Amino acid sequence: MDLRLQAAQRAIEEVKSGMTLGLGTGATAGYFIDLLGERLKSGELHQVRGVPTSEASAERARRWGIPLISLSEVNELDLAVDGADEVDAQLNLIKGLGRALLREKIVEIHARRFVVIVDESKLTPRLGGKGPLPIEIVPFEAQAHVRWLNSLGCRAELWLETDGSPARTDNGNYLARCWFEGGIPDPYILARRLADRPGIVEHGLFLDMAQQVIVAGQDGVRTLERGR
Ligand code: A5P
Repeated sequence: MDLRLQAAQRAIEEVKSGMTLGLGTGATAGYFIDLLGERLKSGELHQVRGVPTSEASAERARRWGIPLISLSEVNELDLAVDGADEVDAQLNLIKGLGRALLREKIVEIHARRFVVIVDESKLTPRLGGKGPLPIEIVPFEAQAHVRWLNSLGCRAELWLETDGSPARTDNGNYLARCWFEGGIPDPYILARRLADRPGIVEHGLFLDMAQQVIVAGQDGVRTLERGR
């Protein structure tokens, strides 16, 4: 069985009737939405509502008839479940290669509990050690933002579609991808610099956010808890 599905199966056990959920984006989060839909349809769960983190996840949830709400209707979410692109030993994350990092971060900071579901290939000793850090940027003067990103000790590029046009997020913004040779030396310093820069809308560093990471591997499914 797909390891990502195994991680999603463990996460669905945390869902109780009446909960409000943050619904993540990507293949692994997609499995979770499907499992939620199945349980609502069978009557095993009821009165669960979700806040989607992308148009794609909203569409997937709608196909199952999962009731969707917005953050204007609730102060906080009981639980958010999402995948990740990289997870380090402190349970810090890189997210956003599914292009949904801004909405994911907006939704997931409202969750009392944020659970991440991954297969073991996403674990890394150092964030940025496996792939690029995605960054959402405003289209205005996009190349100037990319040039500035290149001054941060990475190789940054505007994310292009196969036809050469800039990749767009659900918010109409562009994305850059930044490759750090050997990984990101200090994600906290980098996050601060990115947050301070006009034109950078949001970055894919999710620091101190995940309470638990469910990791599915060849030897089974295990859970990593923050601070343990
Ligand atoms: C979406 O923007 C991302 O943050 C995803 O959570 C991440 O890319 C993981 O996706 P997969 O589950 O498809 O690997």
